[in-house]
Amino acid sequence: MTEQDIKKGLAGVVVDTTKISKVVQETNSLTYRGYPVQELAANCSFEEVAYLIWNGELPTQAQLAEFNERERSQRAISQELVDIILGLPQDTHPMHVVQTAVAYLGAVDPEAEAEGEEANRRKAERLYAQLPTVVAIDHRRRHGLDPVAPSAELSYAENFFKMVFDEVPEPEVVRCFDISLILYAEHSFNASTFTARVITSTTSDMYSAVAGAVGALKGALHGGANEAVMAMLEEVGTADRASAWIDEALAKKAKIMGFGHRVYKNGDSRVPTMRKAFEEMVKVKGADDLLALYNAFEEDFVGRKGIYPNLDYPSGPAYHLMGFDTPQFTPIFVMARITGWTAHIMEQQASNALIRPLSAYDGAEQRSVPTER
Ligand code: ACO
Repeated sequence: MTEQDIKKGLAGVVVDTTKISKVVQETNSLTYRGYPVQELAANCSFEEVAYLIWNGELPTQAQLAEFNERERSQRAISQELVDIILGLPQDTHPMHVVQTAVAYLGAVDPEAEAEGEEANRRKAERLYAQLPTVVAIDHRRRHGLDPVAPSAELSYAENFFKMVFDEVPEPEVVRCFDISLILYAEHSFNASTFTARVITSTTSDMYSAVAGAVGALKGALHGGANEAVMAMLEEVGTADRASAWIDEALAKKAKIMGFGHRVYKNGDSRVPTMRKAFEEMVKVKGADDLLALYNAFEEDFVGRKGIYPNLDYPSGPAYHLMGFDTPQFTPIFVMARITGWTAHIMEQQASNALIRPLSAYDGAEQRSVPTER
């Protein structure tokens, strides 16, 4: 086996087919079930996109009403789970809180091991309905606040704001958030989705696959980058300091968070839409300094390296302006990606082959265990 035979990081390796989304590298485009993501963001709610991802078609008004009613009726989590979240150490990483909640939901779900389309749909919809409640309770306990009960009168996004801040903000803010959920919902065989498919391929259950995916998403090279972007922009501070900060970071060979992508090498198709949403947030909140820093940093880094922003670059500062704490950004990503993950889990189950690649051994030669040691 030669070096060329080894596909480190599985770069460029096609491991299976999927009908859920298509990433076209050459044109930097992304479609969910055939629809360009920009069009979905412009014309649909996150709920409609969730339905599309699971069902392959956009819902009719009647189908959407039924789907939303099911989701709204399942938002509450048990007091036992609330107590588990409240009992975790104050400095537990919010992604660990989410992972703990997913494992708990699996532990108490009588359907956890049930196979088949119907049971999987029910489990996926329960996770979709309950994850925002988990993330919101975790936010509030960090601020010393009691949970706010979910409301069946509000949309997915509105209800999340209500549970976090005890109020629903301006419609423009809710719409920006909804757009971010649409853009984060699905992205083919990214690291966390692939993790979910690997776990599913062993015939393990949906909750185990989702808990594993949460772990994969947490890392800064993947979903954790939206938090890292905000931390980075806060460290840089002002637009006039961007250039010197980048000089120093590149001298240390650091990766610049929110830039670069394994698949898109000439720009991420989701960025223009999310950038517009971020600009809308800047307008609502009067945060021109943050926009100036964002632009100066981007212009400088792209100019030097020709490496373009990914979705996490605009979404991090947009979530900041919406009022979310930085460590909650990746859990919000989970609330969106739960749709894509669970669709892939079902697709993997429907046409399964154990995912088990090979390795090229380059360790010690075979030897005998010494008798004296
Ligand atoms: N900052 C500095 N240099 C970079 C960056 C970056 N953000 N991204 C790529 N490069 C450089 C690499 O150092 C490498 O240079 P070299 O050839 O001189 O060694 C070259 O570009 C190729 O980069 P790789 O890391 O090999 O490309 P890969 O496809 O493995 O990486 C990745 C993609 C991990 C996303 C990378 O661009 C990165 O670390 N970005 C920052 C983290 C980030 O924003 N992640 C979010 C991804 S999108 C998402 O999950 C929603």
